[in-house]
Amino acid sequence: MPENRATAIASPNIAFIKYWGNRDPALRLPANASLSMTIASLQTETTVIFDERLESDQIEINGIPAAEKAASRVTLHLDLIRALSGNPTFASIRSQSNFPAGAGIASSASAFAALTAAASAAAGLELNKKQLSILARRGSGSAARSIFGGFVQLFSGDVNEDGYAEQLAPANHWQLIDLIAVVRKEHKSTGSSEGHHLAPTSPIQAVRVQDAAHRLEICKKAILQKDFLSLARIVELDSNLMHSVMMTSDPPLLYLEPESINIMKHVTRWRENGLDVCYTIDAGPNVHCICSSDDSFEVESQLRSIDGILDVFRCAPGNGVALTANNEQTPQ
Ligand code: PMV
Repeated sequence: MPENRATAIASPNIAFIKYWGNRDPALRLPANASLSMTIASLQTETTVIFDERLESDQIEINGIPAAEKAASRVTLHLDLIRALSGNPTFASIRSQSNFPAGAGIASSASAFAALTAAASAAAGLELNKKQLSILARRGSGSAARSIFGGFVQLFSGDVNEDGYAEQLAPANHWQLIDLIAVVRKEHKSTGSSEGHHLAPTSPIQAVRVQDAAHRLEICKKAILQKDFLSLARIVELDSNLMHSVMMTSDPPLLYLEPESINIMKHVTRWRENGLDVCYTIDAGPNVHCICSSDDSFEVESQLRSIDGILDVFRCAPGNGVALTANNEQTPQ
């Protein structure tokens, strides 16, 4: 019985210049270009097996059958790959992440990057990284960036083929550390897909999008010149702008918890006192503290002494998506 399988591993990424809102929701073409750092240590491993005996896709996430909403998103993504390969066979998908999903740690980025690479390889498609990035974007915008390692830019694009990511600098360019202060582990009530739809209802979104290319240029320059203070200022501004849009959309979205605000205030003070650290927060309450590697140990011990922090994940810049060995394609 022909059985075509592949396994891929991908890491999430933390956006320094964030994307929020889609210019084309069906194609998930982002409202603005974005820039991120792929992070090591956290990862999603996904195995896809196309199997002619199956009558529907069988999807297991972290050891249990996927809930309906997640399963239909995966099936929609596999449909894109089935259309490209011209083979309608259903698949069994097993996906395992070593960090909490849906809590603003970009689990959809690593999940859709791993799914795209594994499913396209299992389907016998030989896609280059740009093509993988375009395809991953259709599942989750930020997944387009997790195809690459290190520091990565995602173009917004007017058409499907222009919405892809590109590496700005490799992981070893700058040893920044992302200390993720976990204050909630449960799944957020409003996912980013729903949040993207609400973005245009905020009076601030147009202004945020209009200035995004300018912020991205400042961030890019700070990364290339390893200028921490310039990076810190633009990263915090960009995060605050996105959360302002969220809070002023209709209905409003408030992802920040009291513990998140408390950490933001501490981070600002630590920087005033000379530590290289800044905060950035995705669509969830957990706070990413970006630090220089030298100052990361002091920041980590300070973070661990704050009440309400459940855990601190320590992540260096990481690699892009990769297939593991033992992938098989049987000619059908
Ligand atoms: O990829 P999505 O649809 O989960 O959206 C990601 C949105 C943010 O994480 C909040 C920002 C970003 O650019 O990663």
